[in-house]
Amino acid sequence: MNLAVLVSGNGTNLQALIDASHAPDFGARIGLVVSDRRDAFGLERARTAGISTEVIEWSSDRDASTLRLLELIRTHDVDALVLAGFMRILGASAIDRFPNRIINVHPSLLPEFPGRDAIGMALAAEAEATGVTVHFVDEQVDHGPILAQERVPILPGDTRDSLAARIHAVEHELLPRVVSDFANGRLRRRQQVVS
Ligand code: GAR
Repeated sequence: MNLAVLVSGNGTNLQALIDASHAPDFGARIGLVVSDRRDAFGLERARTAGISTEVIEWSSDRDASTLRLLELIRTHDVDALVLAGFMRILGASAIDRFPNRIINVHPSLLPEFPGRDAIGMALAAEAEATGVTVHFVDEQVDHGPILAQERVPILPGDTRDSLAARIHAVEHELLPRVVSDFANGRLRRRQQVVS
């Protein structure tokens, strides 16, 4: 299976996927990394790993931007997309093109704390715990069939940095595992759709 990974920033989850993809039984290769930001360090990680990269100009017109993205990846023979810290919302044409073939990682236990600042929201809510969700993407924001979730407790004295570090550690293990299960056809979807 040939994957395109979409990133907007540091790309630590991309790195975890790159590292995991070296295992012979991973089941997929990362053929392309796309970013909406030219300065995303994730692009550097991809180049270092010898993976093709593309930068997509993303405008306020989500549908037009999504069509540009689909056109951009058309020649790369992509089977599925992984959103690894991609901070844009894909238009319906991407979901139509890749039904149940777009996987997103999100730093909360969805449906709690959707959106861009899930970690800040969990801290502000003084929640006892938050976590990580890996799910298929549908037409709604941070929504779709859940593939895996893992709880991360919020500890007394936690800062954004300390909590983010523990969440990232969980993401770096969970996302590659789910992607590999998906690629190898052994994904068991939880009977839950976040709403
Ligand atoms: C990750 O924590 C990911 O869950 C989050 O962005 C971070 C990217 O980190 N995604 C979202 O918040 C999507 N709503 P990374 O660039 O180091 O992988």
